Amino acid sequence: MDFKLTEEHIMIRDAARDFAKTELLPGVIERDEKQEFPKELIKKMGDLGFLGMMASPEYGGGGMDTISYVLAMEELSKIDASASVMVSVNNSLVCWGLDTFGTEEQKKKYLSKLTTGEKLGAFCLSEPEAGSDATSQRTTAIDKGDHYILNGTKNWITNGSSADYYLVIAQTDKEKKHKGINAFIVEKEWEGFEIGPKEQKLGIRGSDTHSLNFNDVKVPKENRIGEDGFGFKFAMKTLSGGRIGIAAQALGIASGAYELAKDYSKQRKAFGTEICNHQAIAFKLADMHTQIEAARHMVMKAAWDKDQGQNYDLSGAMAKLHASQTAMDVTVEAVQVHGGNGYVKEYHVERLMRDAKITQIYEGTSEIQKIVISRSILKD
Ligand code: CAA
Repeated sequence: MDFKLTEEHIMIRDAARDFAKTELLPGVIERDEKQEFPKELIKKMGDLGFLGMMASPEYGGGGMDTISYVLAMEELSKIDASASVMVSVNNSLVCWGLDTFGTEEQKKKYLSKLTTGEKLGAFCLSEPEAGSDATSQRTTAIDKGDHYILNGTKNWITNGSSADYYLVIAQTDKEKKHKGINAFIVEKEWEGFEIGPKEQKLGIRGSDTHSLNFNDVKVPKENRIGEDGFGFKFAMKTLSGGRIGIAAQALGIASGAYELAKDYSKQRKAFGTEICNHQAIAFKLADMHTQIEAARHMVMKAAWDKDQGQNYDLSGAMAKLHASQTAMDVTVEAVQVHGGNGYVKEYHVERLMRDAKITQIYEGTSEIQKIVISRSILKD
């Protein structure tokens, strides 16, 4: 068993760390306050290859393994989880989905632009009444021969207004339940597509989250992904990998908060000494570090499973469940270590605490991860 990172892994991790410190850190508080993320920063992430890390090089991707991707996700998330969720959705859900299941034409036309940051992608599954219960899609796509007519509303869509291409899951035949669901590539400019209101969020406020409306949008048949009825499996398979990315995001949020708390505890004095010399603080740091290391091993194991071509549904769900709980526990404690300063924006930990919560909700709540895990362990 080899726990050592390769030179290439270290290079990618360091590049992401540098980028996060030099480009994401300045302005992160302001972006959180104003709920915006400048286009130039998205472009920079694309130029540096963070938006199509695992996609095939022939379509502009980095051809990297999942270990590289989670290392980069952790580093970006330590500083700015709003940036890293854009990276995660574009990489794991949109690019991976198209690279793995798209046609040659779809890859040439769409994927090659999504990997470079020329265009940004969004993944549209959730609906007002189909969040956890993903089979209950109300959005419909009616087969009209050479095209489908798409109608419905999607909610809580990451990159909602900044994306250019949207992977939309819709019901094509209600009778067939999950076997009557399809996934489509929809372009922002198409008639009948409308960006709804921006969500006012607790955390990841720099990322734009919107509802989306589809009113008689004409989708050419060649924009369906996979065989007829493949949409639900497409969503499940894509989300399985996405969960590894979000687990890495949660790990990054936790380790970012822990590093800030540790540094602070070595500087701040109380009762005549640096607060890290008090066991009340030292024991907190010991617990935080231990929890983070456990989460890191689980995230790496899930990424490794994926890279080895092994099933990663179980390890990905467990990594997400544990890392997101770690993100919650560690960020709350990081605020506590900072005392009054922890409650103030300029110390960053209050933002990380707010950002942590979403990792227990999106790409499947913690309860959904437990469904996936329990079904997997009980099936044999
Ligand atoms: N891979 C391949 N196929 C899978 C699969 C997987 N991981 N999981 C399920 N399937 C298949 C099953 O084999 C079954 O197929 P057959 O009928 O051919 O056997 C079919 O899908 C239906 O499976 P289930 O009966 O298990 O489906 P279910 O209705 O019980 O739901 C669930 C399972 C795990 C609860 C699922 O609904 C789920 O994952 N829900 C959560 C949805 C989610 O993660 N939403 C996040 C939105 S996207 C987002 O958050 C992005 C963002 O902005 C950051």
